[in-house]
Amino acid sequence: MQFFTSLISLLAVATTSVLAQSAKTGAPPNATEVAAGSNFTMMVERPDTSIGSREISLVIGLASCANCPGPSKELGTTLYNGGFDPKFTSKPGTTTLPPHQNFTLTVPSTFPQGPAQLGVAHFALVGASTQPFFETFSTTLIIT
Ligand SMILES: *[C@@H]1O[C@H](CO)[C@@H](O)[C@H](O)[C@H]1NC(C)=O
Ligand SMILES: *[C@@H]1O[C@H](CO)[C@@H](O)[C@H](O)[C@H]1NC(C)=O
Ligand SMILES: *[C@@H]1O[C@H](CO)[C@@H](O)[C@H](O)[C@H]1NC(C)=O
Repeated sequence: MQFFTSLISLLAVATTSVLAQSAKTGAPPNATEVAAGSNFTMMVERPDTSIGSREISLVIGLASCANCPGPSKELGTTLYNGGFDPKFTSKPGTTTLPPHQNFTLTVPSTFPQGPAQLGVAHFALVGASTQPFFETFSTTLIIT
């Protein structure tokens, strides 16, 4: 019984620590309009955690769709594929932001107009046990 109780609390801690690694989109806000062929800034945030984690990679994709299948199924055109290095900023007025990285991304000039899924795939290694952590998330852009 004692064993199971500790096992359950261990599992709870493990789940919490992994959830704490979840990144999210800080900008642009959902349904932001971006013209095909133009640049926009995407801010990806990761909460400040005490649990050590090693960032491995981030892929950002844009998929044209009125009814998107979700970023775990389709990322579409790759806009960014590389490392992720979320940091606090010391710029006045932005010091309360969580650790984040800003990406300047370009919508291809031939990209179809209408709603598009701005999807992210995020891979990190968490804690002393180097637990693999993978997640996807997305917001919507309106391509004009
Ligand atoms: C984001 O915007 C799209 C398009 O306007 C809308 O369909 C969707 O419900 C919005 N999602 C959220 C989480 O607000
Ligand atoms: C868009 O971003 C690319 C790559 O960062 C840059 O070369 C280009 O000058 C930018 N275009 C505009 C209109 O800012
Ligand atoms: C990232 O972009 C946000 C929103 O535009 C801005 O407030 C923040 O200062 C930027 N961070 C850095 C490190 O430039």
